[in-house]
Amino acid sequence: MKRTLIVGNWKMHLNVHEASLLVHRLNERIPVHRTVEVVLAPSLLALQPISVELDRRKFRLAAQNAYYKDAGAFTGEVSYTMLRELVHYAIIGHSERRMYFDETLEVVRDKVAAAVRNEIIPILCIGETNHERLQGETQRVLHDQLTTALFHLTSEDVETMVIAYEPVWAIGTGQTAKPDEIAKAIGWIKHNLYELYGTQVAETTRILYGAGVEPEFVGSTLSIEGIDGLLVGSASINYQKFADIVDAAYRLGHERPTDG
Ligand code: PGA
Repeated sequence: MKRTLIVGNWKMHLNVHEASLLVHRLNERIPVHRTVEVVLAPSLLALQPISVELDRRKFRLAAQNAYYKDAGAFTGEVSYTMLRELVHYAIIGHSERRMYFDETLEVVRDKVAAAVRNEIIPILCIGETNHERLQGETQRVLHDQLTTALFHLTSEDVETMVIAYEPVWAIGTGQTAKPDEIAKAIGWIKHNLYELYGTQVAETTRILYGAGVEPEFVGSTLSIEGIDGLLVGSASINYQKFADIVDAAYRLGHERPTDG
């Protein structure tokens, strides 16, 4: 049975003290759930102190970014090798990195390979911009982002990883994707996985939805076929909202005991 996966991407918010306070509050509000896996992605700076104080029965950590070389003369960078003892997951290919830091398909591919090489599970984000959506290119964009990112991976690698469908036009914009739009995109992603790796991988690889997730959308979004969890941005730095999202996922999981 798949556990519902809820990931909070804190982006470039909260200093070390504030991050620690948020963990403390989440810890008070969120009980140990066997059916929900909760992952926090603080800033790189806050990862180390948080890793010491974290209740590992409740939470796992994710990196928001790292460099794809393992070590070397790369001033200012931190590698997946350096993070391997600290984090379980790494968010890779987020649209903000593709847009503001010029991460190409090839860079995303190399980061995914580096994470896997260092035994960190990639949370690969893919999704179309508003322009691509209006041009009817969503299916092609998802295909291209997915196939290049998985280029170096075996079926076993892909089965353990996580893919997050994040329509870029709905990230932090107040716009929301409709359930039928999300379902269609998830269907395309699963079909691509099936074509590349076969039925088992298409069924096993976890797929998240992310973009504008708020507590009130959890029920309708997690009910969409093929969705195994949520990637939460702005609502994840509000402990009440994030705890409500986890609660809602937990309750829903219990209403759907046959899931997975
Ligand atoms: P949002 O961000 O929830 O603030 O829309 C989602 C994301 O960037 O993963």
